[in-house]
Amino acid sequence: MKIISVVGARPNFMKIAPLIRAIEKYNTQIKIKTQNQAKNSENLNLKLNLNLNLNHLLVHTGQHYDYEMSQIFFQDLDLPQPDIHLGVGSGTHAEQTGKVMVEFEKVLFQEKPDLVIVVGDVNSTLAAALAAVKLHIPVAHIEAGLRCYDWAMPEEINRLLTDHISDYLFTTSEYDDDNLKREGISGEKIFCVGNIMVDSLLFNKPMAEKSDILERLGLVTNHQSPIPPHVIAVSRSCEPKAWQEAWQSESESESESQSQSQPVTPYALLTLHRASNVDNEQSLTRIMAAVNQVAQRIPIVFPAHPRTQKKLKEFNLHLDLTPQSKSQSQSNVLIIPPLGYLDFLNLEMNSRFVITDSGGIQVETTVLGIPCLTMLDSPVWPITHKQGTNILVGSDSRKLTNEAFKILNSNSNSKSESKIELWDGKTAERIVEVIKTQSQSKSES
Ligand code: UD1
Ligand code: UDP
Repeated sequence: MKIISVVGARPNFMKIAPLIRAIEKYNTQIKIKTQNQAKNSENLNLKLNLNLNLNHLLVHTGQHYDYEMSQIFFQDLDLPQPDIHLGVGSGTHAEQTGKVMVEFEKVLFQEKPDLVIVVGDVNSTLAAALAAVKLHIPVAHIEAGLRCYDWAMPEEINRLLTDHISDYLFTTSEYDDDNLKREGISGEKIFCVGNIMVDSLLFNKPMAEKSDILERLGLVTNHQSPIPPHVIAVSRSCEPKAWQEAWQSESESESESQSQSQPVTPYALLTLHRASNVDNEQSLTRIMAAVNQVAQRIPIVFPAHPRTQKKLKEFNLHLDLTPQSKSQSQSNVLIIPPLGYLDFLNLEMNSRFVITDSGGIQVETTVLGIPCLTMLDSPVWPITHKQGTNILVGSDSRKLTNEAFKILNSNSNSKSESKIELWDGKTAERIVEVIKTQSQSKSES
């Protein structure tokens, strides 16, 4: 069986890495079985097992292409380099979707896969699924059934259309199953397997714990040495020493109530990239004003997505990314380039709370038990609000500051990790099991 998996944008890499590991594990098991059988049985069995091998190809559309948005994840997640790179790059929605379709169709003609696997809800997801289904190639969608019912979000269009043209819908919880069934999708196509992002999180957590990002950012309170020179490499846009001094005096009173021995300067983590939050000047200005208010109480680390960096510059907001920026060094908000997965997870795990509009980060904070303030108007992960630490603050900046202050005023710093059914690190293995069983039953019938 030949399978093509498609990645394109940052959140896709964490969703494909566990799948590739699970396929490799399955193929190894088949190989061992085949070798054992070959020793003492006939050729028929041998042939049967070889047919069960999953031949996997990885296609990268090139939707994201900066080192920090793409290549770094191949290292951090130990992903094999893509077999095929489409190099589509940025563009309008139609340009990007169209380019992926045209280029991916050529791959499909050439490779003739038995199955195409897409993940998440980015433009590359829909484009690849559409190209495949038009050639009558079955499509599997991982993270199917998520809905926010906000048609203004491009992701909602991508995920809904992808779901309706897919043959296998791998969902993360019963909420997703219900959404799909309400839209008339047959239950036979739906497989509730859990959350594959959690596979990546649990697998990589021990590695992430070893990251030295806190030292590199000068966030370890008791370290006496001057700021290591590579802080500048992490944060090419600011003057880290001044920034660190400013926030350490600010945060001293904050940390008094906490354990004296705690070596990490308390900080909050921020990510923002939704077009609805950052593309509009008024909205980004309002958000950054609220962020600055919160930053009066706790330093904020802000690894900024390239879309957001461009908009901050364009709108001339005080978080200027030029190397000589005075405002940056006076601010309690440290803007840095996007981080690799292991560094980012480490920052997430050690943060007092996270402010975000990311889908994946809502999942990760829930599993890690870190409070998360989500700047989106419609919930896409209801389970993280019901069972996790995720609070929807939407575009209401007053709610953002209120919720942030509530967290800061509560002395409790304890983490309440959530155990959600099937978010257990074994989702990829369940997906491979379904693919194998389905393909076997199809070849038998
Ligand atoms: C995309 C997804 C979004 C996902 C996000 C994850 C769509 C419609 N949106 O949003 O769902 O949450 O990825 O990060 O697919 N850029 C660079 N370098 C890069 C990539 C992008 O500079 O490597 C800049 C370009 O100016 C580009 C802009 O960022 O125009 C937006 O990139 P794009 O891929 O269109 O959308 P994202 O905002 O990244
Ligand atoms: N992430 C990262 N570096 C960063 C910001 C995020 O590695 O600087 C990771 C994060 O841990 C999560 C994923 O990227 O695994 C989320 O991707 P993103 O927010 O870009 O997309 P979304 O999930 O919103 O589609």
